[in-house]
Amino acid sequence: MRLCFASNNAHKLDEIRPLLPAGLQLLSLADIGCHEELPETQPTLEGNAHQKAQYVFDHYGVGCFADDTGLEVEALGGEPGVYSARYAGPQREAADNVAKLLHELGAQPNRAARFRTVVSLVRGAADVQEFSGEVAGTIAAAPTGQGGFGYDPVFVPSEGDGRTFAEMTLAEKNLLSHRARAVAGLVAFLKAE
Ligand code: IMP
Repeated sequence: MRLCFASNNAHKLDEIRPLLPAGLQLLSLADIGCHEELPETQPTLEGNAHQKAQYVFDHYGVGCFADDTGLEVEALGGEPGVYSARYAGPQREAADNVAKLLHELGAQPNRAARFRTVVSLVRGAADVQEFSGEVAGTIAAAPTGQGGFGYDPVFVPSEGDGRTFAEMTLAEKNLLSHRARAVAGLVAFLKAE
């Protein structure tokens, strides 16, 4: 089976690739000749994940899945949530987003947060599936670690050993992460077909 993963984020592709069954041929957007920015204008993670996968299916005729992820911080009322990528502005800069997050939290003692990922699979008009995954954790006082991407340097998963996601190897992050959990749902669904 061939499926496109609708993301230009190479980190996401690296995380997802080892989680997929050997029989699944994973295509990138470049592989199918899609070089434009995908629409992502919905007010929910579910809406955005579906919008991206549907766009690729409609324009390229390839079965496709997309993920949309948000960091939800309790003391900030669930922000930045669906606006995580543009939290500090349209430049979508990870370092700016992290700096804004730490500034907004200040000395707030409640640092509880969670990552939530929604994966949408679109293979036809009547063949749309949704999977989700989440991981609870806390926001560190300062960024630590060189790995991962986005908010990983300040996210400490509760089920871990105190390290941020950015201090873990890709395989370690995949044992706990929101994205790995959502993709596990996708893989179980595909295997059961
Ligand atoms: P999107 O799913 O690509 O729209 O990501 C939304 C925002 O969350 C972006 O700023 C990403 O860098 C960030 N993000 C997505 N997934 C992760 C992750 O696994 N770790 C850290 N940050 C992430």
